[in-house]
Amino acid sequence: MINFELKYEKTIEQFLEKINFVPDVCIVLGSGLGDFATHLEVINSFETKELSGYPSSTVEGHKGKIIAGLYAGKKVLLFQGRIHFYEGYQLSECLLPIYLASKTSCKNLILTNAAGGVNDYFHPGDLMLVNSFNYMNLYKEVAEVLGIGSLEQKNAFLDFPSKDLSNKIRTGALKGNVILKEGSYWFSKGPSYETPAEIMMFKRFGCDAIGMSTVHEAIFGAFLGIKVGAISCITNFAAGLSDTKLTHKEVIETGQIAKESFENLIKSTIESL
Ligand code: HPA
Repeated sequence: MINFELKYEKTIEQFLEKINFVPDVCIVLGSGLGDFATHLEVINSFETKELSGYPSSTVEGHKGKIIAGLYAGKKVLLFQGRIHFYEGYQLSECLLPIYLASKTSCKNLILTNAAGGVNDYFHPGDLMLVNSFNYMNLYKEVAEVLGIGSLEQKNAFLDFPSKDLSNKIRTGALKGNVILKEGSYWFSKGPSYETPAEIMMFKRFGCDAIGMSTVHEAIFGAFLGIKVGAISCITNFAAGLSDTKLTHKEVIETGQIAKESFENLIKSTIESL
């Protein structure tokens, strides 16, 4: 088990000096989804580079800001942008935001991401509640961070993703009039997008959406005793499922198209908490 307390002592101290409330919810905003921050009544906003030891995101569409604020009277902590495993960071470095979220004593964590649609019924612009994760190709790294023994003891997978928080997201979708699909999110290590042959295999095994983040954050959040829910914005047809060439630009642009329904979903979910 990585000792976050020791490794990030200074970072945690600086973070807690800036965030002195217990959020009702922490939200990690994925690729192209960072604009939700404009809806908060900001209490404090700062760049992650102001925290010593905080890894910097190298990916376009990830701002590297932390924003504490209010929405509909609820206290919200936003991580605008995330750190990816494919950027070459250790898994423990990618998990720092989740550890920081846990240090605020927050009980709800919503992870959002951009993902490729694999399910035939998913189209760019759709929103998907993650009802299960596949991270078979990340077991080893997750076990290194958490420690296999402690994983067994904690039974971290019992409520993962959280049924309770997932129901609140469903309620949010109903109240906000947002169409919300559901499916499984499969982790891909990246850094390149998948090949059509890989997608064909995943599809036959039941994958609904594919992406390069979120899974380890969700496991770690659950492990730390936080309720975790996850929402994917389908930004593209996965490789080989359409004629267009898949680019990060397309991912960001579709994020913009889905922006309104995504933001409505987050708003009404916060209201439902
Ligand atoms: N594959 C992996 N990650 C992604 C994709 C994809 O098609 N789209 C957005 N993130």
